[in-house]
Amino acid sequence: MRKIAKYFLVLIGFTSCGGGERVSKEVFEEVNKNMEVKKLSEAEILEEAMIWGDSISTEAQMELISQLQNAISERGVPGAIEFCSVSAFPILTEVGKVHGVAIKRASNRYRNPADQPDPQEQPILEAYEYNAENGIKSDPNIQKIEGGEVFLYTKPIVIPGGLCLSCHGDPGRDINSETLAKLAELYPQDQAKGHQVGDLRGMWSLRIPKKEVVKRM
Ligand code: HEC
Repeated sequence: MRKIAKYFLVLIGFTSCGGGERVSKEVFEEVNKNMEVKKLSEAEILEEAMIWGDSISTEAQMELISQLQNAISERGVPGAIEFCSVSAFPILTEVGKVHGVAIKRASNRYRNPADQPDPQEQPILEAYEYNAENGIKSDPNIQKIEGGEVFLYTKPIVIPGGLCLSCHGDPGRDINSETLAKLAELYPQDQAKGHQVGDLRGMWSLRIPKKEVVKRM
């Protein structure tokens, strides 16, 4: 399958180099023939982007949860807050860099103000919130942005279990006083408390360049 991508890119290279290079008729026809036989449709590229978005966001989630569990067992819950505050962003940046995509989490009930949705994410997040309020299950979503050159992949983040409540649950009942003090110190605008298991906490947001998807096919 990699071969198709190569032909595809080669063809783009030919057509976009501004006429400086001449391509022999034979080479051009060969590439064209391969394009026709193995041409990737927009629907196929979109489907691949969806599968890839699912797999990268799952990988990022597993990475965050496993490092969070380590931090909690080493330093306790209040100590792990500092870990989240310092490390969540670099961990996601690293996972994104490996795959050539930009990855973040967005929430309207944010803890870190940097996780507020941007204008492209906001309507999707609102749809997820509407579904959550009305008991409708939300699915991952993918749409074209930047004139079709980038795919915006999103997936709801639902609180899966009690582990999360020690920092996102009810103050007093789920969150102990030492943890509350640490949260107040680091996140004076915190809106990410008071959750229960099953609540919508936010969403994954991945910006996947189309060319990175095509490279994989
Ligand atoms: C040790 C405390 C702690 C635990 C446990 C914890 N979180 Fe968080 N969470 C944080 C902190 C601190 C931040 C802010 C991170 C930052 O500054 O980048 C955060 C941020 C987030 C965000 C990003 C949006 C925002 O509000 O800024 C999501 C989504 C999230 N947490 C979901 C979860 C889920 C789901 C779980 C359970 C698997 C969980 N958290 C468990 C402390 C915790």
